[in-house]
Amino acid sequence: MIGRNDPCYCGSGKKYKKCHLKYDENLVAYEMKGYDIPQKKHIKNKAQIEGIRKSAVITKKLFDLLDDFVKEGVTTDEINALVHENTIKMGGTPAPLNYNGFPKSCCTSINDVVCHGIPENRVLKDGDIINIDLTTILDGYYSDSSRMYMIGNVSEKAKQLVEDTKKAMWIGIEQVKPYASIDAIGDAIQTFADSKGYGIVKDLGGHGVGVQFHEDPHIHHYRNNEKGMIMVPGMVFTIEPMINMGAYEVDILDDDWTVVTRDGSLSAQWEHTLLVTETGYEVLT
Ligand code: MF3
Ligand code: CO
Ligand code: CO
Repeated sequence: MIGRNDPCYCGSGKKYKKCHLKYDENLVAYEMKGYDIPQKKHIKNKAQIEGIRKSAVITKKLFDLLDDFVKEGVTTDEINALVHENTIKMGGTPAPLNYNGFPKSCCTSINDVVCHGIPENRVLKDGDIINIDLTTILDGYYSDSSRMYMIGNVSEKAKQLVEDTKKAMWIGIEQVKPYASIDAIGDAIQTFADSKGYGIVKDLGGHGVGVQFHEDPHIHHYRNNEKGMIMVPGMVFTIEPMINMGAYEVDILDDDWTVVTRDGSLSAQWEHTLLVTETGYEVLT
């Protein structure tokens, strides 16, 4: 048992009674109400947060490069090569490469592909929408983020989906604060998506991240009956809603990776890695 005057386990250097003691007492109250309470392994210390922050600097720089590079005529393999070479150049490692057998260094998901699209010789054409999902490892720390790109003249409906999905991500992010339930995120996103008639993908969600690619807890982007985990400062996780123009159901192709909408409708996704702070959130990516 940690004593009141011992150094806090979070690594702040402060005494436990001046640091996480009040959180821990507060959390007992939530536990009594049936909420899931974060364990030590869910909370990052200062050094880990700093490591994730530095990793995220690389991820953000990669998106800056992609902003100029992604256009009609480019292949997803060329996007992959740009990501791979520049990650290495900046001292990082692309986390997707060889992750559970994934063959490339990023995910490229076009039109009805929901996520986990594998870069190939497919050429981007006018009217396509594409999600590019990057995860960088630097000194063992992971940062995970994805953005949408619109190629040339995109239909009004597709453009709306891309913008609404970004909005859905931000509505989720705004729920992030200490002592709220992690399920407030899905609640808020569902209210918004329902108002637009979209389907929210249920089979995949956000996740803890930082010292591994995918950590607990799982983050639902839709409303559900669970009470969810209570958020506390130092937790790091992603919010990454996948929103379909049509129904929420998805299928996985024979390559065992590519997730597509079952009804063939367009799908969009945006993702950030977030840190829970004393007052709310910090977007790390
Ligand atoms: N970056 C994805 C996520 O947001 C995971 C990709 S797994 C991979 O969780 F193997 F396909 F790269
Ligand atoms: Co993720
Ligand atoms: Co990702």
